[in-house]
Amino acid sequence: MNRRNFIQILGLGAGLGAGIGISSAIVGCGPTEPTEAFGWNGPDPMEKDIRMQVLAYAILSPNSHNIQPWIIRITGPLSFDLYVDPERLLPATDPYYRQIHISQGTFLETLSIAATGLGHEARIDYFPEGVYGNHELLNKPVASIRLIPRADINPDPLFAHLLTRHSNKQEYDNRRLKQTEIDALQTFHGAASIYPLSIVQSTKAKQQLEKILTKGMQIEVGDKKRDLETIGMFRFNDAEVKQYRDGFGVTQAGLSGIKKMIVENFLLSRESTEKDPTAFGEQAVDLTRKTAESTATFAWISSPGNSRLDQVKAGRDYCRINLKTTAMGLVQHPMSQVLQEFEEMLPLQAQFKKQFSINSSDTVQMLFRLGRAEATPHGPRRLITALIRD
Ligand SMILES: Cc1cc2nc3c(=O)[nH]c(=O)nc-3n(C[C@H](O)[C@H](O)[C@H](O)COP(=O)(O)O)c2cc1C
Repeated sequence: MNRRNFIQILGLGAGLGAGIGISSAIVGCGPTEPTEAFGWNGPDPMEKDIRMQVLAYAILSPNSHNIQPWIIRITGPLSFDLYVDPERLLPATDPYYRQIHISQGTFLETLSIAATGLGHEARIDYFPEGVYGNHELLNKPVASIRLIPRADINPDPLFAHLLTRHSNKQEYDNRRLKQTEIDALQTFHGAASIYPLSIVQSTKAKQQLEKILTKGMQIEVGDKKRDLETIGMFRFNDAEVKQYRDGFGVTQAGLSGIKKMIVENFLLSRESTEKDPTAFGEQAVDLTRKTAESTATFAWISSPGNSRLDQVKAGRDYCRINLKTTAMGLVQHPMSQVLQEFEEMLPLQAQFKKQFSINSSDTVQMLFRLGRAEATPHGPRRLITALIRD
C-alpha cells in the first residue's frame, strides 16, 4: 500500500469526494448497492408488525464501529427484550464494554422516538432482571420494552430525522457554532438529561483537543490487538459491505467516485493491512489530526457515576443530540480514543480531564466534534431478523 498516496487522496476526498458525482458503478469498480438497500429506507411499507417497524428504525442508531451489538428476544405481541450481543464486542478498545452499553442507549432512544412517530409509546424498563457491574457482562436484558398504542401521542419532532442522522467523519469547515446554536443545544439537552453537556470552542480548547485527540489515536494504534480489532470492522470494498452489512469504510469518511475506487482497488487490501497494520495506523493518526484541525467546536457528555444505567442513559442523550444537530443542519462525530479504559490510555485521559477541569472521578461518556459539512453516505445495517433470537 502506498501510504502517502492514500492520505493525499483521502485529504482531497474530504473536500471534493462528495462533489465528484461519479459513482463507482460508472467507473466500473464492482458492485455497488444503493445505501437505501442497507436499512435506510425505514420499515418495509408492507410490514404490519409494530415491533418490526420500530426495530427497523432502532437498528439505524449510532453505535461503536457500527458493530450493531444488539439481540432482541420477543416476549409478547407488543413487547420484546434488548440484550447485548456477546458475539459483538470490542474488548481490545472497550475492555469494560462501556461503549457497547452506550450503544444500547442509542438503540433505546431511537426506538422510543420511532414509536411516537408510529402512534405508540415505548415503555422501557431498564435491567428488569437486575443491573450487573460495570466490569462484567451478564446474560440479562438491558431493557424490557412494551409498545402501548396511543392515538393521542404527539410524534417526537426528532422522528423526522431518524433516516438522515449519521456520524459525519470528514473534515469540517472550521467555523464555530453560533452562540444561539450552542444555547439551543444546551436548552434541548438540559430539558431531558441529568448529565452535563460541555461545549467548548475557544482557540485554546481547540488547540488542546487537537493534541489530545491525535495523541489518543497514536496510543490506540500502537498495539496489534487493537489494530486488528479495528481492521476487523473496517470494510475494504463494496463486496465486504454487502457481505457483512456492518462496520465502516472510506465511504463514511466522505470518499466517493474515482477516489474511492482508487483507494479500494489499488491502495487498500485486507490481506496486506492485516499482515502489517503499521500504515493503517499511521493513516488513522493523520486523519484524526486533520479532522480535529478542521473543527472549531467540541463537546462531551459526562456523568458522576458510571453504572450500566448511566452508560445506557448517556447513550440516549448522545443519540438525541445527534438527531437534534441533524435537525439544525449541523454534523457530529464521536472521537472516543482518549475515553477508552485500557491501561496505556489512562495518563492521557487524566491529562484531558485536568486540562478541562473535569472531576477526575467523573466519566466522560461521549466526546465528539460538531460543525458543518456535506452529508456522507450511511453505514450499512443488517436485517432486523439477524437481531432476533428465540
Ligand atoms: C459509543 C460510540 C463510540 C463511537 N466512537 C467513534 C470513534 O471513536 N470514531 C469514529 O469515527 N466514530 C465513532 N462512533 C461513531 C460510529 O462509528 C457510528 O455511529 C457507526 O459507524 C454508525 O454510523 P452512523 O452513526 O453514521 O449511523 C462512535 C459511536 C458510538 C455510539
